[in-house]
Amino acid sequence: MSFITSLTRIWLTHSLKPFTFKNEYDQSLPYAACENLGLYVHIPFCKSICNFCPYCKVPYSPALCDSYIDALIREIHLVGSQQPGRKKVGSLYFGGGTPALAANRLKEIIDALNEHFIITEGIGLELHPDNVNVETLQTLQAAGVTKISIGIQSFSDKYQKILGRKTVDAAALREALARVRFETVSMDFIFALPGQSFEDLRADIDEAFSLGANHIAIYPFIDFTFTDSPIAAMPKKEKRKLLDAITRYCLSRGYSRRSIWTFSNDEDASYSSMTRDNFLGFGCSATSLFKGQFKINTFDVASYRERIDSGTLATALTLRFTPRQRMVYWLFWTAYSTRVNADDFEKFFGVSLKRSYGFALWLARRLGFVHEHDGVYEMTLKGAFYYHYYESFYTLSYIDKMWGILRKEAFPERIVL
Ligand SMILES: C[S@@+](CC[C@H](N)C(=O)[O-])C[C@H]1O[C@@H](n2cnc3c(N)ncnc32)[C@H](O)[C@@H]1O
Ligand code: SF4
Repeated sequence: MSFITSLTRIWLTHSLKPFTFKNEYDQSLPYAACENLGLYVHIPFCKSICNFCPYCKVPYSPALCDSYIDALIREIHLVGSQQPGRKKVGSLYFGGGTPALAANRLKEIIDALNEHFIITEGIGLELHPDNVNVETLQTLQAAGVTKISIGIQSFSDKYQKILGRKTVDAAALREALARVRFETVSMDFIFALPGQSFEDLRADIDEAFSLGANHIAIYPFIDFTFTDSPIAAMPKKEKRKLLDAITRYCLSRGYSRRSIWTFSNDEDASYSSMTRDNFLGFGCSATSLFKGQFKINTFDVASYRERIDSGTLATALTLRFTPRQRMVYWLFWTAYSTRVNADDFEKFFGVSLKRSYGFALWLARRLGFVHEHDGVYEMTLKGAFYYHYYESFYTLSYIDKMWGILRKEAFPERIVL
């Protein structure tokens, strides 16, 4: 599996050079001149821990959460004061863990960010279904949150049991969502669970939109090697049939495909922290991406607080891109939106997409993966499936290895992928 990703990497980056992440960092981050910058904040706490979940999280306690947020606010000022004035940015996303558990301190975090940044495209935040009540939603709204994403996984008891989660209280969700309105209400589902059929997923999708969602994300189940999940992966053929059936169903209902995994019934709804040219991340495990580098913070909550308290950034690893590596990175994440605009590539890199990747694009068209229209490459259904398939490889070869190490070591010496 990693053989395929290595070969593709060598082909597309025109180099044998692997991605090397090192235990070194810049204390001053090069974000001031970045165009199209997004913000991300990680809150690593959950009331109960799901055994299939790869994210950086620890059991919630109010005291631990409070001291973490004190450090987070310090990190925001440490980084934000590196540039004068307030920098215009796109969106801000809170991910986790379960950031809604910190609802009472959200305003403080957003106020700290507002001292250094002007957020122009709204604020998104993740919730567990247990957090969806009128009081919490009102607190989020008052703090400035405009988009919410709820981790449903499935409305069916059968699949919640497989995932080790409890039944979702749909009536409570409907009521709270009707009373407190957000521009985007997204719901997360997991598909390709053992025995899961198209009918099961169709029921989930219909239920989501009927309860008040205007956006859904349907993630394929990924069996990370470092999690203790006993759930078996679905065979490729079955998975493809399921993904194609879900996609066709959503398109037939008039929902628009916003990314490989997301659909929406409302043009104004959007929820994606990934498809941004540059981003600045705060908190444990948060990543930042700039033109020349990618960096990731330590996963360890205590080490994070120690570093920040001593006035230094909590970066665990930095990858310094070769220009070609950065192009591959850009293409991979832009393709996540199912379309790549040649003008955007040229604007970002100063060279033409055709000149850089002419043969690869020709091949992708010949294989029926993309259509081209006025310099915009749109993924076909087949292309979307193979991207999804490749993305799972990527996740298992790169993210699995990196997160697996970072969960055990606060500051590993280096990781070569
Ligand atoms: C941070 S959680 C969402 C908020 C909240 N913590 C919750 O679980 O309800 C992010 C999402 O990642 C997805 N996820 C977690 N583990 C996964 C896995 N092994 N494979 C695919 N998706 C996964 C789930 O859909 C989950 O809702
Ligand atoms: S899926 Fe959500 S609730 Fe479960 S451990 Fe992961 S972040 Fe926490």
